[in-house]
Amino acid sequence: MKILPSIKNAYLLIDHDTIVDYGSMDTIQDLNAEKVIDATGKIVLPTWCDSHTHIVYAGNREQEFVDRINGLSYEDIANRGGGILNSAEKLQNTSEENLYLQSAERLKKVISLGTGAIEIKSGYGLTIDGELKMLRVIKRLKKEFPVKVRATLLAAHAIPKEFKDNKTAFVNLVIDKMIPEVAKEKLATYIDVFCEKGYFDLEDTERILKAGKEHGLIPKIHVNQFNAFGGVDVGVKHQALSVDHLEEMNQDDIDVLKNSDTMPVALPSCSYFLSIPYTPARQIIDAGLPLALATDYNPGSTPSGNMNFVISTACIKMKMTPEEAINAATINGAYAMGIENMYGSITKGKKANLIITKQIPSYGFLPYAFGDNNIDQVIINGQTI
Ligand code: NIG
Ligand code: FE
Repeated sequence: MKILPSIKNAYLLIDHDTIVDYGSMDTIQDLNAEKVIDATGKIVLPTWCDSHTHIVYAGNREQEFVDRINGLSYEDIANRGGGILNSAEKLQNTSEENLYLQSAERLKKVISLGTGAIEIKSGYGLTIDGELKMLRVIKRLKKEFPVKVRATLLAAHAIPKEFKDNKTAFVNLVIDKMIPEVAKEKLATYIDVFCEKGYFDLEDTERILKAGKEHGLIPKIHVNQFNAFGGVDVGVKHQALSVDHLEEMNQDDIDVLKNSDTMPVALPSCSYFLSIPYTPARQIIDAGLPLALATDYNPGSTPSGNMNFVISTACIKMKMTPEEAINAATINGAYAMGIENMYGSITKGKKANLIITKQIPSYGFLPYAFGDNNIDQVIINGQTI
């Protein structure tokens, strides 16, 4: 992760939507291109691969933000019926069309900030109809936008009020109805669970991942956000493609990730916004593990989909080097979405999804100049957006 190969004074050749060649300008014979973009003084990078978002949601929760400033915790707010349940109620009262329009605005914004591939979760439905509504919106985003979109079923995101005293009945509903229906309609690639105290325990998580796998869904889980109690182990045991959050990590969690194919994913904007610990990136990377970075864009814990801020925060607060952070936000993020063969790096044969920066002195300037937008152009499938 410490190595980010680069070429100074380079050319890059795109044919339709594919990167076909690149190299040093010194070695090029004659360039026969229909269109030329002069990138003098600028840097060309692969677009960001944001492997963890909840951008399909209805309305915002800025009142909870103010409540937290005034002393309540994220958990206090959830316990009094706010949080995810608040978003679920808003979603229920929002038409599918309106939900699409709100979500499309968010997607447009993050593309302009350099995101070229994105995973989007359900999880504010908490009913079969609500979850299907969200997943249909994701399907429409996938159709209407040129970026790569992957959908995840996160039916087990919170326990609905009606099931407050009967969580098992809700888990059964997820397993017996929601997973089969979503798999039948091919609306998701991944199955997710919020494995956390007060939400879904190890047994619930295990049951849901197993059921998902039986229907062809690949596990990717929310784990160790507030408490470390063995969820990483359950994820790895079920060959989760990624385990996400990891603000609380112990040595067992690190050990179990070694010799696994599971990608740890950190979400530093969530730590920033909730003022909770940052994922111990140094401990993870120095143990020889990879790490991916994603936004977690959602109305409760991370109302931002800006990967540039994520990369800056990873460098500033998690002591990742710019090389590590850029690798984590591109090729490792692509891996955490199962699309690393076509996205996440400038490689011949991969999709021409590229960022051209403004004139900057080095790529280290990107995380250094935190809060600035140094992106000049975003190219998706060979087309400037
Ligand atoms: O990843 N932790 C669970 N889910 C989201 C937050 C959801 C919300 O508060 O609306 C997260 O942080
Ligand atoms: Fe999340």
